Amino acid sequence: MTDELYSFVVVSNRLPVDRVIDESGTASWKQSPGGLVTALEPVMRAADGAWVGWAGQADLELEPFDEGGIRIVPVKLSESDLEMYYEGFSNDTLWPLYHDVIAQPSYHRIWWERYVQVNRRFAEATAASSAPGATVWVQDYQLQLVPAMLRELRPDLVIGFFNHIPFPAYGIFSQLPWRGQIIDGLLGADVVGFQRVADAGNFSRAVRRLRGYSTKTPYIDVPGTDDQPARRVIARAFPISIDVTGFQELAARPEVQERAAQIRADLGNPKTIMLGVDRLDYTKGIGHRLKAFGELLAEGRLSVEDITLVQVATPSRERVESYRQLRDEIELTVGRINGDYGTISHQAVSYLHHGFPREEMAAFYLAADVMLVTALRDGMNLVAKEYVAARGDEDGVLILSEFAGASDELRAALLVNPHDIDGLKDTILRAIAMPRVERRKRMRMLRRRVSENDVTHWSNSFLSTLREVKGSASWGGSDLAPETEWTIEKPSP
Ligand code: ADP
Ligand code: G6P
Repeated sequence: MTDELYSFVVVSNRLPVDRVIDESGTASWKQSPGGLVTALEPVMRAADGAWVGWAGQADLELEPFDEGGIRIVPVKLSESDLEMYYEGFSNDTLWPLYHDVIAQPSYHRIWWERYVQVNRRFAEATAASSAPGATVWVQDYQLQLVPAMLRELRPDLVIGFFNHIPFPAYGIFSQLPWRGQIIDGLLGADVVGFQRVADAGNFSRAVRRLRGYSTKTPYIDVPGTDDQPARRVIARAFPISIDVTGFQELAARPEVQERAAQIRADLGNPKTIMLGVDRLDYTKGIGHRLKAFGELLAEGRLSVEDITLVQVATPSRERVESYRQLRDEIELTVGRINGDYGTISHQAVSYLHHGFPREEMAAFYLAADVMLVTALRDGMNLVAKEYVAARGDEDGVLILSEFAGASDELRAALLVNPHDIDGLKDTILRAIAMPRVERRKRMRMLRRRVSENDVTHWSNSFLSTLREVKGSASWGGSDLAPETEWTIEKPSP
């Protein structure tokens, strides 16, 4: 591990960069997928801290290094850790359970045991990188036991936890055979943050039901034990966001604007471009959106001459069976729609199954007249916020699922229930036909909301809450004060 100690440490399963090896055997780094990295990367670039996590490949033994101005402290995961802790317990037990059992969660004791072991390894690596009294910020469902493990190892630390995905209602959470241990793990933190008010409420309810601790929003009183003093934990919502200014500036660049025009031309200059951008995940409702679009074409309410749906479907968790099945289903459906309705000059769906640079993503957003976010359940959905941030021209229509956390803030979008295919079809037609005046009015409101809460606001409000807890009499750690007050500066674009 490392001898260097940091007074601010972020720990997540995935690091901001993945190690990739090309066909010639040359290793390089590329940005990791997903909203967690999108949000935290600008926060960490602006802070002088360390990021502890896994580098995206099995059995990699790497020394700490700097990448893009961030100190990276890699944690090694073996092939069997990946099978049992990452693909198994994290992504085949917790992920479907926390997303309202859209897919059936699998419960295996051997996966749970490995989850405990790997969480301990992350806790140990974090403890070894943390200066006395450091602030440690643990991220997401893969590491829910780390807060309590870390507190045991290092009672001097100030510990925050943020859950990027939903926290389910008790009726669902209670299925988990290890539900009590998860609650104890999370309560090791001083502040437990969630995306939505409803998620924080679900967590507090689970604490009352499973542990009987008294809760008074946003506080949870954890009684003392022989080894640990009584503590007061804060559990509340901190809706995550993006680097709004950075994204706006990226989208305003002339070369990005030119690229957007080029994308439109390459698609045959259709009247309307609709866009979906998602990891290829069953929570995203990609199948529902394709069904609605296919039916509109079949009924002649839309014509392939006039409209193209661009679907960016980022490869994700490809060794997990439910993700394999999803890929087959989606690709079959895209093939059918294109076969049935495409012409030599016009494709109905332009399907792209790979990652793109951020500039290209911004160009897609600028080219899209209608953005489709039809998640069946989503912690936040940063794609919706990126679309809004990109639209400096105050144009474009956002169709947004009411089951995405972003719908709490982005009320001026066209909100949909993606399960209601007829409703979704009508909303798509409404978006396409929306007059410029209404588009501008809605987009202005959306842009105001997104600008009010950017990622710097998110991290500062979480970290200042953490400071408050630490400063209060109820804080039960050692009397070592943190050396640094953590206020993150806005990242330079
Ligand atoms: P999730 O965290 O579930 O993946 P979000 O919508 O919150 O969903 O975040 C997805 C992030 O990944 C966004 O920042 C988006 O721009 C990025 N992204 C998605 N697909 C791609 C892709 N193909 N290439 C590059 N970035 C992508
Ligand atoms: C979501 C999760 C993140 C995860 C990301 C990508 O955003 O909340 O924790 O890192 O998806 O998924 P992956 O399994 O590839 O890390």
